[in-house]
Amino acid sequence: PKAKGLKDYYQKYFPIGVAVAVRNLQGDEAQLIKKQFNSITAENAMKMASIQPKEGLFYWKDADSIVSFAQKNGIKVRGHNLCWHEQTPDWFFKDNEGKQVTKAVLLQRLKTHITAVVSRYKGKIYAWDVVNEAVDDDPNGYLRNSKWYQICGEDFISKAFEYAHEADPDVKLFYNDYNTERPEKWEQIYKLLKSLKDKGVPIDGVGLQAHWSVVEPTEAELRSAIERYSSLGLKIQFTELDISIYPWEKIKRARKPGESDAFTPELEKAQMEKYAMVFKVFRAYKNVITNVTFWNISDRYSWLDNYPVAGRKNYPLLFDHHLQPKKAYWEVINFK
Ligand code: XIL
Repeated sequence: PKAKGLKDYYQKYFPIGVAVAVRNLQGDEAQLIKKQFNSITAENAMKMASIQPKEGLFYWKDADSIVSFAQKNGIKVRGHNLCWHEQTPDWFFKDNEGKQVTKAVLLQRLKTHITAVVSRYKGKIYAWDVVNEAVDDDPNGYLRNSKWYQICGEDFISKAFEYAHEADPDVKLFYNDYNTERPEKWEQIYKLLKSLKDKGVPIDGVGLQAHWSVVEPTEAELRSAIERYSSLGLKIQFTELDISIYPWEKIKRARKPGESDAFTPELEKAQMEKYAMVFKVFRAYKNVITNVTFWNISDRYSWLDNYPVAGRKNYPLLFDHHLQPKKAYWEVINFK
């Protein structure tokens, strides 16, 4: 019999996904993806800047390669993302003379973009992150003061969902954000989701990015977040899971000379315990959780190696540099 992977252990729960770039679709990484995962997300290839770098100039090659790799191997695709304040080219917001466009023009551009992308992958992508990170981090704020917000007010959010729904009425539509289990942010996210539901906007679920660390979230925070959001009748997907070995507050600054970035046995244990806890909670809520996706494949490469500052190695995933399962992996498949 074939050796089992994460996807097989979680067959009765939810698909297990991974974020990839085209370069990962060959060699040992491709083998690992096929063995372990049954959902895939483009780490960057479907973002606005990748797909439409200039107005009307659509670049599909990388996104197409990822979708065809998935189809060939019986893997589902999660789309990420249709509207964000980052990795969005400036032309969206400007006219020929460099002046800021009107709300009508910007919404038309948003519609053209979303319609093109969602239609191209109709039937091939089963869920989309429609709007990413529209909520502000300030506990006293509400929506992020992005270009989208400055020009359109909050309407860009509901419009984005409507355009996506028109292009593919069957695809599942998600609002996606980070720090969704932090008490200082969850009220604002809940408020946004509730207002979308109350307005009848076609939204199916909320994506919790899950860029966590060995110190957060606590089990209580995670459970409350799941209960709170799902009480709105929304499905939940964990869309960008990784467990940093550094608390977020620490990686905001560059590594000092001599400061270690080793994966010590203490950190390995703390990470293993956090992974065990979060997957135990995920299994307990399997009726509302419809996907859990890791952000990158293995500790060989993580976006956290370069974010928010370069030069601090991280070890946030379930597989090590040699693509071997780490201790945390065995905890994740230990259904005790
Ligand atoms: C990251 C990618 O992993 C990096 O390669 C890129 O340089 C920046 O974006 N939240 C998101 C993802 O929604 O799209 C981000 O991905 C990570 C944070």
